[in-house]
Amino acid sequence: MDKILIHGGRPLSGSIKISGSKNSALPILAATLLTREPCIVHGVPDLSDTNYMLQILTHLGAQVERASGTVTVTAEKVHSVAPYDVVRKMRASVCVLGPLLGRCKEATVALPGGCVIGDRPIDLHLKGFEALGAAVRVQAGDIKVFAPKLSGAVINMHGKFGPTVLGTDNIMMAAVLSDGVTVIEGAAQEPEVVDLANFLNQMGAKIEGAGTRRIIIEGVSELHGTEHWVIPDRIEAGTFLVAGAIAGKGVTVNRVEPEHVRAITDVLTRCGFPIKFADRSISILPNGAATALELKTEPYPGFPTDMQAQMCALLSTSKGISAVTDNVFPQRYMHVAELKRMGAKVQLEGATAVIEGVDRLLAAPVMASDLRASAALVLAGLKADGVTEVSRVYHIDRGYERLDEKLGELGAHVERVKAA
Ligand code: UD1
Repeated sequence: MDKILIHGGRPLSGSIKISGSKNSALPILAATLLTREPCIVHGVPDLSDTNYMLQILTHLGAQVERASGTVTVTAEKVHSVAPYDVVRKMRASVCVLGPLLGRCKEATVALPGGCVIGDRPIDLHLKGFEALGAAVRVQAGDIKVFAPKLSGAVINMHGKFGPTVLGTDNIMMAAVLSDGVTVIEGAAQEPEVVDLANFLNQMGAKIEGAGTRRIIIEGVSELHGTEHWVIPDRIEAGTFLVAGAIAGKGVTVNRVEPEHVRAITDVLTRCGFPIKFADRSISILPNGAATALELKTEPYPGFPTDMQAQMCALLSTSKGISAVTDNVFPQRYMHVAELKRMGAKVQLEGATAVIEGVDRLLAAPVMASDLRASAALVLAGLKADGVTEVSRVYHIDRGYERLDEKLGELGAHVERVKAA
């Protein structure tokens, strides 16, 4: 298992290019199962999660070719069973259920396990499949869905913690090949949902309203192949902007969609950092320690839960006391204990982290626990005195393409070493 060593205190400057969005690429790759014809997807980031998805597609019978960031999937014949061994490594593998149900009218996919950021139920996905006319059984760790015929329905995807992103994706993918009209109320509005809807429409689907709370899908009898460019990863962009705030002398992220990161740049502005926008790039300028603030994560267009841990790292050395509340995943605070090992002063009160800014963080051996928590520890290491050692970096490789190399391009001293 690799470790990352971060030699703190090096100022970052310059620019990097943002990769394609992981959270767009995963459901879009799953959606290629909906047609026999080849689909070409550009801008697929080289991550362990996208590689797992390609392994799942191969297991389901699709032919997959990958040349750099371009993936061609031809799912001429598919079968509908994805066992635990194939899907267990990635929770997002649940998003093959929708396209398999749409295409094969049945699917058996092992139930994803829990994960450190919380319980992660999929009740809303299953309720949606039932509304489309499918029978749903959970048996011996597998989810089995079966429908002789899928019919349009009105489905609400808003749960206790807001709308579900992959649930909205799953229902869209099942409904595109159903009879009649499906209306998704309380739909997730994330840009990744819009990207998937655009991809499906390019395949011949009839979807309107993606990006709003109501999505209307008129079922069609079949879909065809297409070619698509995945949108830039707004969470990667946000992470590098926070790196610029923590340790930067002026950092620019290129190939971003400024509107998609608006909630993040707004918060960084409130923290006191000057931000400059150009066509498809954003620069953050230095301005000393961040100003403390109150921050709540919310579904898009609110501040993303996937940036909460990185903001905790930034606010650890802010001026004053901050309160960060995660309304989407209230238990997503595994990074807090590790940040405390680096000298951060953080108190957890339910879903809120109360952070008292300190002048300095001190390097320490810390352990990555999930994808975004790991990124937060790397960011904290950029600021800490000494060499921070982050172990279990496979979590980082799930969702950041060449994070260590890109930080190196900005002038950070980051090494990847094989753990003994
Ligand atoms: C996606 C993202 C993830 C992000 C999350 C929230 C991908 C691959 N992953 O995950 O990075 O952190 O959105 O923006 O796109 N919930 C239910 N019942 C359900 C489904 C979800 O109660 O059936 C709850 C969850 O526990 C959570 C909230 O709804 O509290 C939002 O989860 P959801 O949007 O479903 O997350 P994912 O789509 O899995």
